This record gives sequence, C-alpha cells and structure tokens, in this order.
Amino acid sequence: MSDSPFAPLKNDRFLRALARQPVDRTPVWMMRQAGRYLPEYRAARAKAGSFMDLCRHTELACEVTLQPLERYPLDAAILFSDILTIPDAMGLGLYFEEGEGPKFRKPVRTAAEIEALEVVDSERELDYVMNVVSAVRRELNGRVPLIGFSGSPWTLATYMVEGGPSRDFARCKELIYNRPEVMHQLLTVLADSVTDYLNAQIRAGAQAVQIFDTWGGALSHGAYREFSLQYMARIVDGLIKEADGRPVPAILFTKGGGQWLEAMADSGASALGLDWTTDLGAARARVGDRVALQGNLDPAVLYASPERIHAEVAAVLESYGRGGGHIFNLGHGITPKVDPEHARAMIEAVVELSPQYHD
Ligand code: CP3
Repeated sequence: MSDSPFAPLKNDRFLRALARQPVDRTPVWMMRQAGRYLPEYRAARAKAGSFMDLCRHTELACEVTLQPLERYPLDAAILFSDILTIPDAMGLGLYFEEGEGPKFRKPVRTAAEIEALEVVDSERELDYVMNVVSAVRRELNGRVPLIGFSGSPWTLATYMVEGGPSRDFARCKELIYNRPEVMHQLLTVLADSVTDYLNAQIRAGAQAVQIFDTWGGALSHGAYREFSLQYMARIVDGLIKEADGRPVPAILFTKGGGQWLEAMADSGASALGLDWTTDLGAARARVGDRVALQGNLDPAVLYASPERIHAEVAAVLESYGRGGGHIFNLGHGITPKVDPEHARAMIEAVVELSPQYHD
C-alpha cells in the first residue's frame, strides 16, 4: 500500500495506455478541454476577471479543470493553467490582448537580458499553480488521473524573444543562426525551470505530464534536435519517475513533428503526441513498440456534423489498429467556436467504437 494522501485511482485506462498495457477501450481526453467553447468556462472566467486572474484563483481554476469531466466521459483531467507562467515568473510581464493572444511587456532579446534570467523556483514563485494541482487532485477523488504540463523550452523562448505570437520567428531564428550560444543559454535556463516546474507539479499531485512543443515544427531538421528535442530530453531525464507507487509518464507533443518521431522516441518519454498531419498507423509502425501514441483527429473535424465526426473517429481508431498504446485526442487544442455537443459526439464515438480494438 502506498502512503499517498489522495484517494486510490478508479479509472486508470489513461495511465495503462501510456504504459502500453491492455485496456478495455481506448482512453480519451482533449487538449484545451477546459476552455472557451464551454459556456460554464466563460461564466467562471467572467467571475474571475482576466485569464491570469482565473489561473491564480485556486477554487475557480479547480472548477474549470473539472468542468469537461462533468459533461463527458473523459479519462484524464488536465490542470487549468498556461505554459507562459514560467516567463511571467521570470519577470517578463505577461498580459493578454483580446484577439491577439499572449504578450510580454519586457521581452528578452539581447545577450545581457538573457544572461540576467534566473531559474524559477516553482514551489515558491509558482505556488498558485501548485495550489490548483493539489486542489484538483483532491477534488477528483481518484476519478481519473491528473495531467500536469509545461511548454517546451523552445516554445517558451519563441514567446519570450518575439514578445508574443509570431509567424516567422524572425528574432529567434536570427539568434539561432548568428548567436547560437545565446539561444542555448536561454534554453538552458528554461529547461532547468521547466524540470523544476514539472517536478513541483508531480509532488503536488500530477500523475502524468505533457510538454507542449507547439512551435518545434517551425525549426529545420537539424535545428529541431539541437534547439528543441535536446532540451526536452534533458527535462524528461530530470523528472521524478514514480509517485504513489506508479510510474509518472511524460508525453512529448511537437506540433509538426511527425517526421522526427524516431528521434523523439529516443528522448525517454513514454508517449508522443501527434498532430493530424501524421499517419497514425504509419507512426505506430515506426515507433509503436517503444512509446505510446496520442492523437490525432484534426480539431477542425469538430466543425462538421456529428455523423461525420463519428466516421472520422472510426478512421483514427482503424488507423491505429488493435491493441494498447493509443490515447485518443485531437491533433491540437479544441477551438473556441466548437459546439460542445460536437465534442460529445467525438468522445462518445471513442467510447462506442474503441472496445472492438481491445481484447
Ligand atoms: O488543455 C487544457 O484544458 C489546459 C489548459 C491550457 C491552456 N493553455 C489554457 C488557456 C493549456 C494546456 C495551455 C497551453 C498553451 N498556452 C500553449 C500550448 C498548447 C497549444 O495549444 O499549443 C500555448 C502556445 C499557450 C499560450 C496561450 N495562452 C495562447 C496562444 C492563448 C490563447 C490566446 C487567445 O486569446 O486566443 C492562451 C490563453 C489561454 N490559455 C486560454 C485558455 C483556456 C484562453 C484564455 C481566455 O479565457 O481568454
């Protein structure tokens, strides 16, 4: 028996699939499952004030984390927070401009600005995130596992250097090619911060972690390994390996990373997240005996009719084929304009159709 302060896990389908163990059906969750497509999220957000106010409000952040689980038969919860909490704690001044996405008041661009950055001590400086993790884990009461997350160093660096979203990552690419040692210094301080952040989440109650490498796919073939994958592998290596007597799996999601799966599978991660541009069956043939695979329905399928959604879910399940090691998900986050009933159609199709792929 473990001496965990938390209730025993009742539904461990998600953790079993990550360990490539047999399951009764394919587990399912959605990236960005707590968000603006849900009217109850918009109500909680209005109550809190700004998005960051919501992230800092333990009870409301806990409530929105659980909202999708109240509606749908999901197999995992994901912490409600954001990847940009780390640069915010570094003093860059995160804010959100309606319709324009995240921005920083003080981006870091020069070697001197990067040199001045310090590794974030998450338990002290991001205690509001850990409070939400513990509250959610308690509130879940063993219903499903809780996923913690972080951005990849490269993805965080793009926002910190560009100052916000970017199309071409001009400043970051200029650093990579002109001053690679400066970019490496930034990525090193971020990798150390992310390792500490994820370990603090695991200590607070996260049972699996996902690294969002949203912009890894913007790098060249060689630069991806040097400036993104290398640092994600370093993080995975530094993670707490076990909690409550179970392994704590790490999932790597590089959007646009489908051609690098073999290298990603060497990182030590338990699972790879795939976007919708990758052939799931072919990916399984390439790496499926080494890692679990998560994905990969095109999120835009949720704009189609429930009948069409059902058919597209069937195609994803058929593409992976029989046996464990698959976690059903979207290929990227659910978008704000999706009808919640369409998300339900996707999840219920997984519940209905996936048992035939398992013994
Ligand atoms: O998956 C979940 O339900 C957990 C919550 C979560 C959020 N952001 C909540 C959020 C997660 C995992 C993230 C990660 C995140 N944040 C990423 C990586 C994942 C990905 O989608 O690629 C990135 C790149 C960010 C940065 C960020 N934060 C963006 C681009 C935005 C959207 C800005 C906009 O106005 O469209 C945010 C804000 C944000 N993070 C929202 C949510 C629900 C919307 C905020 C609101 O309520 O207005």
